[in-house]
Amino acid sequence: MTFDTTLHNRRMTHFDDHDSFWLFGYGSLIWKADFPFLERRPARIHDWCRRFWQGSHDHRGTPDAPGRVVTLVRAPGACCDGMAYRIRPEVLSQLDIREKNGYLRERVPVHFDAQPTVEGLIYLATEENAAFLGEAPLLDMAAQIAGAHGPSGSNREYLLNLAEALARQGVKDGHVSALAALLTQPD
Ligand code: SIN
Repeated sequence: MTFDTTLHNRRMTHFDDHDSFWLFGYGSLIWKADFPFLERRPARIHDWCRRFWQGSHDHRGTPDAPGRVVTLVRAPGACCDGMAYRIRPEVLSQLDIREKNGYLRERVPVHFDAQPTVEGLIYLATEENAAFLGEAPLLDMAAQIAGAHGPSGSNREYLLNLAEALARQGVKDGHVSALAALLTQPD
């Protein structure tokens, strides 16, 4: 597969005939909602955990010096908290471009506090995509994030914005907070 998943995602037409549906964001989609939405609510998905295992060659890094951004990894029994947005299907074309560096549209059950579970959509970067970096020692990941910059800004900003947004929602994510602590601790 090439890095650019835009064309592949266009073939996933499952939600095309819906008036609206729920998109679940677990990374920058939590804190950078630069797309039209009808409403948003904190939500969660089960059996996945958030990891800084996806390379960013287009937003928070460059092809020569990729940054690290989040994807989801299967983890039975785990829970990943994020933000769900009710969107119209036509919004997907702009999201496909934003998430084109390896992310594929995927259907998942999305759970809310006071609302029935729905079938929603995530952008998922699996280990099969060419931009996947995978696991590395925490210190190495933190150093890579500290040094990476791309057209959308620094990789550090991505991490700290995510950590802040999760804290505002009252969500504890040990992986994100451990990396954020390494990026903010005095030398
Ligand atoms: C997401 O936020 O749901 C996908 C990953 C990202 O864009 O950071």
